[in-house]
Amino acid sequence: MPEAPEPHKKSIALIGLMGAGKTSVGRRLAKRLSLPFADADAEIEAAAGLSIAEIFERFGEAHFRDGERRVIARLVDGPRQVIATGGGAFMDEETRALILARCTAIWLDGDLDTLAARLGRRDHRPLLRDKEPRALLAELAEARNPIYALAHFTVRGDAGTQERTVGRIVDLLGLA
Ligand code: S3P
Repeated sequence: MPEAPEPHKKSIALIGLMGAGKTSVGRRLAKRLSLPFADADAEIEAAAGLSIAEIFERFGEAHFRDGERRVIARLVDGPRQVIATGGGAFMDEETRALILARCTAIWLDGDLDTLAARLGRRDHRPLLRDKEPRALLAELAEARNPIYALAHFTVRGDAGTQERTVGRIVDLLGLA
């Protein structure tokens, strides 16, 4: 069983599909709460000295997931902060257990058309290279949504502005 969330004490981890707004909402949320912000994808890139696309290309997805697991383990060990995770991070059993135990996990959900529109046509994300965004997101949502639903809280990230999404999170966690 995941531990009870303690939003006043724990880091806040945003999870969800690509295009859900984890990075931009996370950055705004951190600002609102005067907490540091960390983007797991950016941390992985910095640690590897390569872009995520390059890591996938040169070493494959399994290697990327290993790096992602290590980076998230380091982030949850750090000071209380807002962490935007990559869309696949919470699918890893070990990473998920760590996030649920050490952070308040928020699933940023949204309808697939909105998410697909955000991703646009040309995108740096390797999973999107050979697939049409809407079709890929539908495939990922089917596999991942039941797992994302294990997060402590779910917030829709597709209704209204990102500032409003931040407001909903702050209210929900009682951090206003
Ligand atoms: C991935 C999502 C990406 C990034 C990588 C794999 C996924 O992060 O980690 O391309 O498996 O859904 P974002 O969700 O921040 O785009």
